[in-house]
Amino acid sequence: MAGALGVKATPFTYAAHALAAAAAVMVLVWAIHFRGGLAFEAVNKNLIFNVHPVLMLIGYIILGSEGIMIYKSFPGLNHDTAKLIHLILHTIAIVLGAVGIYCAFKNHNESGIANLYSLHSWLGLGAISLYGIQWIFGLVTFFFPGAAPDVRRSALPWHALFGLFVYILTLATSQLGFLEKLTFLESGGLDKYGTEAILVNCTALVVVLFGTAVVIAAIAPADKVDEPEGYAPIPVVG
Ligand code: HEM
Ligand code: HEM
Repeated sequence: MAGALGVKATPFTYAAHALAAAAAVMVLVWAIHFRGGLAFEAVNKNLIFNVHPVLMLIGYIILGSEGIMIYKSFPGLNHDTAKLIHLILHTIAIVLGAVGIYCAFKNHNESGIANLYSLHSWLGLGAISLYGIQWIFGLVTFFFPGAAPDVRRSALPWHALFGLFVYILTLATSQLGFLEKLTFLESGGLDKYGTEAILVNCTALVVVLFGTAVVIAAIAPADKVDEPEGYAPIPVVG
């Protein structure tokens, strides 16, 4: 689609890397400078909560995004190597995402707060579960044991479509998370136009721009690189 519009993926991957770096710095500044820091064990349970946005954004969303973009970030990369990095980055993303969610539950349980009452938490659990299903289908179809070539060929557009759907759902979940936390803080007296409130809203905005760049990079064709003789991502049979 984006190919028909005449855009190539590469500039969008550059924009995405830069926006990812900005979002990572912003969420760290928020958690460490404004919210008091990060901890797995602490008397101040807010520090345990702080691990949640940091890991969900840097571990789950950013590493997952780099996984999605790997085929476009390095168009000259050998296809099997790209596939392996795609697999590894998504695996780390799911693990760090699970640890991040664990920290949200840990904070709630140790503070006597109810679990799973919000749309954010429902969508979040839904998104990471679908991400896990996508991972299993991707692994079995394209890596080990690997489906027959014609099955792989017809599964690929569905893999990309479903992958982007789950990805966008994840972005939406993070937006609700930022909104919810900032609303809690503002109800507790945080200045609505203060530096911290602006920082949180801007972080969420950067995530929107970042996600847009990732989705366009995934849809747009890679810049042409001379491919080795006989190269075929999925062998054509018959
Ligand atoms: C996109 C990745 C994210 C996922 C999958 C996710 C998932 C979850 C889940 C499952 C819970 C429920 C914990 C419980 O019930 O004990 C939760 C809680 C929470 N999360 Fe996230 N989260 C994500 C990102 C974020 C971000 C970026 C923020 C920003 C601060 C955030 C803020 C919150 C807040 C304030 C809570 C506690 C209130 C509630 O349960 O809704 N989340 N999250
Ligand atoms: C939950 C994790 C995953 C997500 C969100 C995801 C998402 C995507 C997306 C959006 C694309 C299209 C990229 C593009 O065309 O630029 C893609 C391609 C691909 N993915 Fe995944 N994927 C996941 C897991 C896996 C796993 C575990 C494997 C197995 C190794 C895999 C193998 C592939 C392959 C072979 C391609 C095609 C690359 C090509 O164009 O030749 N994916 N994935």
